[in-house]
Formats: sequence, structure tokens, C-alpha cells
Amino acid sequence: MAKIQAIRGMNDILPEQSPVWQYVEDTVRKVLSQYGYQEIRMPVVEQTELFKRSIGEVTDIVEKEMYTFDDRNGDSLTLRPEGTAGCVRAAEQHGLLFNQTRRLWYTGPMFRHERPQKGRYRQFHQIGVECFGMAGPDIDAELLILTARLWQALGLAEHTRLEINSIGTAEARRSFRSALVEYLSDFVDELDDDSKRRLESNPLRILDSKNARTQEILQQAPALDDYLDDESKEHFQTLRSLLEAAGVQYTVNPRLVRGLDYYGKTVFEWITDSLGAQGTVCAGGRYDGLVEQLGGKPTVAVGFAMGLERLILLLETLDLIPESVNGDADVYVTAMGESTMATAFSVAESLRSALHGRVVISHCGGGSFKSQMKKADKSGARYAVILGENEVASGTVGLKPLRSNEDQRDIGMTELASVLKGMLA
Ligand code: HAM
Repeated sequence: MAKIQAIRGMNDILPEQSPVWQYVEDTVRKVLSQYGYQEIRMPVVEQTELFKRSIGEVTDIVEKEMYTFDDRNGDSLTLRPEGTAGCVRAAEQHGLLFNQTRRLWYTGPMFRHERPQKGRYRQFHQIGVECFGMAGPDIDAELLILTARLWQALGLAEHTRLEINSIGTAEARRSFRSALVEYLSDFVDELDDDSKRRLESNPLRILDSKNARTQEILQQAPALDDYLDDESKEHFQTLRSLLEAAGVQYTVNPRLVRGLDYYGKTVFEWITDSLGAQGTVCAGGRYDGLVEQLGGKPTVAVGFAMGLERLILLLETLDLIPESVNGDADVYVTAMGESTMATAFSVAESLRSALHGRVVISHCGGGSFKSQMKKADKSGARYAVILGENEVASGTVGLKPLRSNEDQRDIGMTELASVLKGMLA
């Protein structure tokens, strides 16, 4: 029978890769907790309507990328393509937004039916952050200062750059949109196919086009900046000076509009030039209207999400994963013969109690001395504890260094933990 394979664009994360994932996740978690962000966990599946109403009917995600299906009750459900919509739904449903500010984060798989390529998958993982109830540019700045600290912690500060823009209020975008459509309608025949389609559905997204001729036409197009309302302009100016004061470098990209409809005012992307086409590792912005749009009391909000696959690819490409992140064991406890098993477990347990944060593997499955030592070596452990019938009888163990030429020596079982503690330090 043919073997069943994983779905295209959906990856297994194998045991060898897990330490790197845990390293990145732990680093992000630590930074977020330093800033007082709280974790929220939402379901992977939501009602389809939630995404349509938040991300927007005429976006790439909703038009062609969602995994949507009818469940057994005939309800239309969708695997979440992103986390913001579900986070707003959950926060609103549980009264987290009433008369209070919130700093939340989440992580987990997201699903988009895109064409898979390096850095772009159909199941991918995000860590997302959403802040509610803070209207000023201070919280926008905090998010960017926090991400800058994270890049520092991961060694990525030199390899990421920040682009920011303000896309103003819905009203400002409406006036700009009319002006843009009017200008572009003189060039319809010269636009790329996607842009032609977007001219009617979502003209702002044309600014994002990668097509050279379209970009050339856009050179003379009206600028979004000229249509910005005073409040958005001031918000953006203050954000810029806060970033400058904090030493966070950025460039203003007037073409940055983002592909989801809920944004207004600040938008931003952290980009790397080391990953090719899929170089955006973190992206977000303000979405002051979304909570109300989903039926809640008007509540301002801002957030971002980073793609974990892209961050990990970047760390691997640049060889920035610390050597200690390898999943290696520290100690491997062997057991030669059935009568030694109980003692071997008790030795291993006492090591785990004494050696906090160290990995102690108990050999299971029997086998010769040679085969047990082979497994000890493969585990990456620095020391093997050798335990046979003679050792049990004398209350000692053999301690064998596996990564140096030092000789094996006999140690009393009661001293083993403190000796190893010193040697592993
Ligand atoms: P987004 O720009 O659609 O925004 O995705 C954020 C990040 O997720 C991207 O910058 C990228 O790193 C990663 N990503 C997106 N699609 C894929 C894919 N197919 N494969 C691999 N990585 C991918 C959002 O999702 C918004 N919810 C962000 C946000 C939160 N805005 C406000 N709050």
C-alpha cells in the first residue's frame, strides 16, 4: 500500500529541530514577560464569518487562501489564517476589554493555502502580540522597542530593518483611494494582472505590487501622505520621535499598506534581506476599528505577528544558533543486567534531583556494554555512569567522560551527584 505523506506545505518539526524552536520560543517568551505581556490561547478553528469580517472580503487571504469547510452541523468553519481576529473575538467574548488596557500574546499554527516555497508554507507558526485600549503612539513605540530587543537577544539586530508607514483613518484612505484609482485608470492596460484586478477591489494593495512597470507608473501617483488626516500625522510624528529617542532605526516606506483590511494609522514590517522573497519576519500595525466592527464597544488596538519558520530559517542561514542549543544529554546512566535496573533508576533519580536543568538519560532496553556505550555516545552526553553487578555490590559507579580523554574512575554512589555537579558546571 502507498504510504500516506504529509500535506504539501505542512511540515513536521522533527526531534533534531525542536531545540531550535524551543530556543526561539523561550527567548520571545522571556522578552514578552519582561514587558508584562500575558499569554492567551485561542482555538485553531473559528467561524468563517469572523475572518471575512475582520481580514476583509477582498483580501488575498479571504478570497483564495482560507481552509474553509462545513462541519457536521453545516456551519462554515475556517482554520485560522492569522491570530488577530480570534484574539479580538476571545478578548471581547470574555470581557477582557471593558474599561481596561490589555497586553496579550499568543502562539500557534496558522493556515493559508498559498503556493509553498522557501519561507512560505500552508501551515506556519506565528507568535503574535495584541494590545488593547491604548490610543497613543507610545504603545506603537513600545511594540517596536520590544521587537528590537528581541532581535538583539537572538543576534539578529544587524540583519533586520524596520519599515514604518501611516495609512491614516478610513476616511483619509477613502479620499486617497479615489485619487489613486482616477490616476491609475489612465494606465489600466499597462498594469500587471493582479493590479488590474485590484483597481476595482482593493486599489491600495497596488502600491505593494512587485511589477516593475506598475512601480514605474506609481512614481507619479498621488501620495497617501498628502491625504493623511492631522491626527494620524501627529500620531506618526510622535511615534517617529519616540523611536529615535529609543535608538530604534527605521525607514518610512510610503508604499507600505499591508494585506489585511483592519489596519489604520501605524503599519510596520521588520524585513531581512537574507531570506530572498519571503523576507518579512514580523509585521503589524494599528487596528482601532476592528473591535467595534466585530460587535464590541469601540476599543483601540495595535499588534504584530512574527513568522517562526522565517525566524528559524534566518538564524540557520546566518549560523546564529548558539552551540548549547543542540538537545544533547548531559549524563547517560547505563544498567548492565536485570539486577542493576532498580539501582540505576535510583541513581538517575538522585542525579535529576541534584542537577537542575541537566538532561539525565536512563538506559532502557538492555543490551551489551558495547551497545549501551554506543547509545550513551549518540545521546551527546558528556558523562556515562557505568553500573553493573559489581558496582551495585560495592555501592559505587564508574564515571566515564565521553568527550575527553580522561580516564574512567570509580565513585561512591552517595558522592556521584556532587562530583558531577562540579564537573558539569
Ligand atoms: P501577516 O503579515 O499576514 O500579519 O503575517 C505576519 C507574519 O507571519 C509575516 O510577516 C510572516 O513572517 C508570517 N507569515 C505569514 N504568512 C506566512 C506563510 N504562508 N508562511 C510562513 N510565514 C508566514 C498577520 O497575520 C497579522 N495578524 C499581524 C498582526 C497582529 N497585526 C496586528 N496584530
